[in-house]
Amino acid sequence: MELQRNHQTTYFVSLENAHKFVEGVLIGNKVCPEHAAIVARCLVQADARGVDTHGCNRVPSYMRRIRQGVLQPSPHIQVKAISPVVHQVDGKNGFGFVSATLAMDACIKSALDYGIGMASVKHSNHFGMSASFVMQANAAGMMSLVFTNSSPALPAWGAKDRLLGVSPIACGAPGGADGDFVLDMAPSIAARGKIYKALRREEKIPKDWALDAHGNPTDDPAAALEGVMLPMGGPKGSALAIMMDVFSGVLSGSAFAGEVTGPYDPSKASDVGHFLLAIKPDLFMSSKEFRARMDYLYQRVTSSSKMAGVDRVYFPGELEQIQAQLRKSTGIPWVQAEIDALNAEADLVDAPHLVIGV
Ligand SMILES: NC(=O)c1ccc[n+]([C@@H]2O[C@H](COP(=O)([O-])OP(=O)(O)OC[C@H]3O[C@@H](n4cnc5c(N)ncnc54)[C@H](O)[C@@H]3O)[C@@H](O)[C@H]2O)c1
Repeated sequence: MELQRNHQTTYFVSLENAHKFVEGVLIGNKVCPEHAAIVARCLVQADARGVDTHGCNRVPSYMRRIRQGVLQPSPHIQVKAISPVVHQVDGKNGFGFVSATLAMDACIKSALDYGIGMASVKHSNHFGMSASFVMQANAAGMMSLVFTNSSPALPAWGAKDRLLGVSPIACGAPGGADGDFVLDMAPSIAARGKIYKALRREEKIPKDWALDAHGNPTDDPAAALEGVMLPMGGPKGSALAIMMDVFSGVLSGSAFAGEVTGPYDPSKASDVGHFLLAIKPDLFMSSKEFRARMDYLYQRVTSSSKMAGVDRVYFPGELEQIQAQLRKSTGIPWVQAEIDALNAEADLVDAPHLVIGV
């Protein structure tokens, strides 16, 4: 299937082929099959949900880090139990996707036995879309919080220097018939990945997303990447970014206070920290009652009377869920430049190219 968008043809790749492609490139770069499967699942899940900024297009930047020796392709990552409900993970500079998946697994196991489980992860890397780990918890019937810190991109409110990460805050709860609650949001007006995506696609960005290096609003993605992202809600957004750093960086022993290295900077290890929490939702009532109450909340939210110009009121995570349902059959839309960049990675390690078509 092909589509014309912004004068660029869009090609569609099936989720299965994208997964196989990513695994092939990763294994070609000495990532063990077990870790490659986790990374591929998270990246394809992001593309499937329409979070294109944190999907397979990230593969070239991750592979550059491996080639540069600043990301370990397959470290042996162990989960250390500090107490029956508290876990510590040293990511050993491997993929953040792997450390966070193992950490959430441990949280879920503790929550099943004790009602709650938390994990702190240090010396990790970028873990992509936070919702991946929220959805892992939802699938196990658990509520969750998923925090990470990230490289400096936002100023503290009132300042003009980059200090805080555009670090997403994510949480979830399993729902009933109407689907799960999945909140996953960066504390900036827009995620920085959206600026990289605009740059790749030669598109302009809205003027309220970022300032250029001189502190002026800009619609040029390249100029925005030289400047700072703007926090959502002014001081409230920068306070949320500080909160992500307290829980993910200060608490874990990883880099913090502006010292995390960005995923596009292959000069040194990132040293990202994460914080994950799982809670069993049937601690105070039956699971059936909890899910029925979630359904009631969903109904109340989505049947609210709409403001002018709005067709439908959505529950957090619902738009992405609708997109995931659609992309199961359409596949993932990519422009030629994106396909070429991915296939160039495959060429470097003699892995199979993407197959266009579903
Ligand atoms: N790992 C990292 O360091 C890092 C850094 C930044 C962003 N990210 C990822 O980038 C992704 C995008 O972040 P974002 O802040 O741009 O997300 P977004 O603004 O697209 O969505 C934020 C939240 O709002 C909800 N939402 C959006 N539109 C809605 C509507 N009309 N009605 C109801 N709910 C709605 C979404 O379901 C989502 O939960 C996230 O997956 C995030 O984890 C990762």
